[in-house]
Amino acid sequence: MNDEARVKELRKLFPVVKHWTYLYNGSIHPCPRPVGDAMRSFLKKWQNGGEDAFFSAFDAFSRLREKFARLIHANARNIVITESTTAAINLAAQIIRPRRGQNVVVTDLDFMTNTYPWLVCHPAKVRFVKSRDGKIFMKDLAAQVNQRTAAVGICAVTVGSGFRFDLKEVQAITRRHHVPLLVDAAQALGLVDINATDPPLDFLACTASKWLMGPTGVGFLYVADRHLEATPPSVGWLSAANVSDWDVRRCRLHKDAMRFQGGIPNLVGVVGALAGLELLEQIGRKFIERRVRQLTTYAMEELQKIGVDIWTPRADAERAGIVFFRCPKHAELHAKLKAAKIYCGTFQGGIRIDPNFYNTIEEIEKFLAVVRFHLAENPR
Ligand SMILES: Cc1ncc(COP(=O)(O)O)c(C=O)c1O
Repeated sequence: MNDEARVKELRKLFPVVKHWTYLYNGSIHPCPRPVGDAMRSFLKKWQNGGEDAFFSAFDAFSRLREKFARLIHANARNIVITESTTAAINLAAQIIRPRRGQNVVVTDLDFMTNTYPWLVCHPAKVRFVKSRDGKIFMKDLAAQVNQRTAAVGICAVTVGSGFRFDLKEVQAITRRHHVPLLVDAAQALGLVDINATDPPLDFLACTASKWLMGPTGVGFLYVADRHLEATPPSVGWLSAANVSDWDVRRCRLHKDAMRFQGGIPNLVGVVGALAGLELLEQIGRKFIERRVRQLTTYAMEELQKIGVDIWTPRADAERAGIVFFRCPKHAELHAKLKAAKIYCGTFQGGIRIDPNFYNTIEEIEKFLAVVRFHLAENPR
């Protein structure tokens, strides 16, 4: 089956296509049919069986840890299931615990969630690497890291311009200074192949709800072996290896990342997240990457002809699923797109689209037609 025929079939799994030209998959991914089915089926079991339904859901929890691990070529023992990317980043920050007098290096292309935990909850100074033309240059990053740096935090694919880091280059800088590297992979996993162990990262945070096609309320943190002995910032019964002893006087923490797990997680979400990853595996990351590259490249070439100000880097290696541009009266354009049932995002004075594999060139054309019309009415 060629790609077009395959996409035609796959679109049947996405009821959203009947309602929207949905081009904001890196925000909240629309629920694929198998994900909705898995969650509905769990709810039915819970409705009819109470606790009895939870055994299979706990099994889904273990399998989800394994699947998250496989996605980043790591081991399940290094995976903590969290409620979001934000929770994962906060947990990593609490494990790192930067002290007063130290600094943490972030970038101005980060999302708020990447900078707020350091700004609000920790005493270290926060140093911002300034972007240029929607990119972070390695020499600018290296210039901010010194012997007092407690951590470097980056988005593997940044949420605004869509710039994709070369993780090997970042890792070479953090390694030189023996500084932990925290990678937010929310806009990367599902599309970009990241190996958390080569070169080794310290922490990787992600959510199920974007390119992994799962629900909100589920994310994960990868914690490298060297941080697994850290005292968890909070604990609960699931943190303990001796839970079956029911010994309220003594908590023997798990030796793996389960020590950072507290109480029963969002199991409805876990079941959905697992179904999202199974779907991703069936479709194949390479196919998804190829499709998204085709759609984003086409969109960028046409946007360039229209004459909008594209913030996303052009080179294939420097971007993934996001295309961002600025133009006059962007809020008006966003409203026009929404009126035409085209779903995309607007912030920082521009428009963002993140097409996924199930989108089509025809849908991109539909989007471009509205942009062309808007620019003809509102020239730069
Ligand atoms: C790169 C990145 N990190 C973090 C987040 C926030 O994710 P969560 O709501 O799972 O904390 C987003 C959401 O858009 C994002 O794009």
